[in-house]
Amino acid sequence: MITHSFWEEQKYKLETHYSELVQEKTWTCKYCGRPVAPKEIRDPNTDELILLVPAEQHGCAGETAHLEAQAAELAKTELATVRAWVGLSPKLATCTFNSYKTNTPDRNRQKAVMWSFVHGLIEKQLDGHNWVVMCGPCGTGKTHLAAAVLNHLVTLGAHKSLFVSWVDYLNRIKASFDPQSPERTGDLRRRLHSAKLLIIDDLDKVKVTDWARETLYDVLNRRYDRNLATVMTCNAQASDLMTLLGAPNFDRFCEVQYAVVEFKGKSYRSGITYD
Ligand SMILES: Nc1ncnc2c1ncn2[C@@H]1O[C@H](COP(=O)(O)OP(=O)(O)O)[C@@H](O)[C@H]1O
Ligand SMILES: [Mg+2]
Ligand SMILES: [Zn+2]
Repeated sequence: MITHSFWEEQKYKLETHYSELVQEKTWTCKYCGRPVAPKEIRDPNTDELILLVPAEQHGCAGETAHLEAQAAELAKTELATVRAWVGLSPKLATCTFNSYKTNTPDRNRQKAVMWSFVHGLIEKQLDGHNWVVMCGPCGTGKTHLAAAVLNHLVTLGAHKSLFVSWVDYLNRIKASFDPQSPERTGDLRRRLHSAKLLIIDDLDKVKVTDWARETLYDVLNRRYDRNLATVMTCNAQASDLMTLLGAPNFDRFCEVQYAVVEFKGKSYRSGITYD
């Protein structure tokens, strides 16, 4: 009689070659060739022996290497998923503290400030002073160091942070006003309001309109209220920051700032100096 209970079914299937299975008490490890002890599978209700299978692990070098490689592969795909989720493109994923060259005193100082910032964040030692603006001409490494902060946090498992290009974000907000849009305005805004660390890249890549400044106020004011860490990059000089951000944003920034990091000199890309 065929029953539909799982265990009954196993017994039924195995009845014909049951004795043969029980007799074959060893398996061979495909990595080292040694015999592997069996593991017994019993009916949880009656404790009757149902099946013998090879033990899952027996700890030889080949098997260990195989399991470690498998785990590393899994960790890599998990990391890639987290990076994509927090807005780090494959290019930005290569922008780490390690890959940031400190061959000039300026670069050395910039890296040191951002490293101490991320360290302070991790250790919760910033005492409310957790906003950074990185400013200076294009190609000088602002985006690289901003991404380095997030890459470092991601390797520690942080997944509630976010990297956005400001231009891209404004365009997505505009697109979301269309009722047909797959993205909801509220969802887009909420993620920026609540990210544990938010990096806003290139605040002034396009003309800063009143609407853009108000949108920035919406984001920054919420983050100010919740005292959430925020990093912004822009091409403006430090002395133009108030005009760029607008007085309400600038005022909040002054209170909770960790640093204004100035980037100067040649573009790392082209060697050109833009002043
Ligand atoms: N100190 C540095 N060490 C290594 N690569 C750098 C450094 N500074 C900039 N780069 C690289 O140069 C390019 C331009 O830097 P980026 O951070 O995009 O400049 P910015 O955001 O200031 O315009 C990127 O590919 C970046 O990885
Ligand atoms: Mg940039
Ligand atoms: Zn083995």
